[in-house]
Amino acid sequence: MSPEQIKNEKRLAGQHAAKLIENQMTIGLGTGTTVYYLVEALAQRVKSEHLQITTVATSSRTANQAKNLGITVKELDEVDHLDLTIDGADEIDSNFQGIKGGGGAHTLEKLVAKASTKNIWIVDETKLVPQLGAFPLPLEVLPYGSSLLLKRLQKEGLHPKFRLDNNGQKVFTHYHNYIIDLHLNEIKHPHLLAQWLNQQVGIVEHGLFLDIVNTVIVGKLEKAEVIPVIRH
Ligand code: 5RP
Repeated sequence: MSPEQIKNEKRLAGQHAAKLIENQMTIGLGTGTTVYYLVEALAQRVKSEHLQITTVATSSRTANQAKNLGITVKELDEVDHLDLTIDGADEIDSNFQGIKGGGGAHTLEKLVAKASTKNIWIVDETKLVPQLGAFPLPLEVLPYGSSLLLKRLQKEGLHPKFRLDNNGQKVFTHYHNYIIDLHLNEIKHPHLLAQWLNQQVGIVEHGLFLDIVNTVIVGKLEKAEVIPVIRH
């Protein structure tokens, strides 16, 4: 699929999701290029329909975009619940389990998702995969002891690599942690891997988002398809 087509599918998914937001809702806003279109479309509705909504953003990128477009943005600790969170994803398997964190925002994204009554993911078609793992699995890790942690992950055969920027420097997250990406190719047992990662000291959060999403909106050539999640 061409980059233009992918962009168009992201736009269709984002715009469709914006239509599902209702007056008085408290909304979690994810991060990424698909969420960008959601925020744009939501801002138009806020303006034209005078929608009264509150949002919580999962990155300064999204927060800045939303605020600049006139959307109210609060901190997670300033709200007592979230009705709905809409976010992108890097991979979604046939059982609606996902990998997130391509943009390094997965810790905040998971905090917001878990505080939310309902979660919607907005994606282009390339994100739907039979099995997770072709996309490297991101881990946010504490800088202290992170080289030792990398060796431990290597020993486990998890093919870890620090995420680097264009200058070859380690990328920092919002909270000044590092990202280690696991180049696994396939994840046969996502729950077992998540359990193991949860037990490792030094890992702040991993990018496996399991049993979280309720609805997936996939941009297709000319429309968005809404898929209610039923897990087997
Ligand atoms: C950021 C994320 C994003 O939601 C994910 O990377 C998808 O991004 P995009 O919509 O740009 O394809 O998890 O941490």
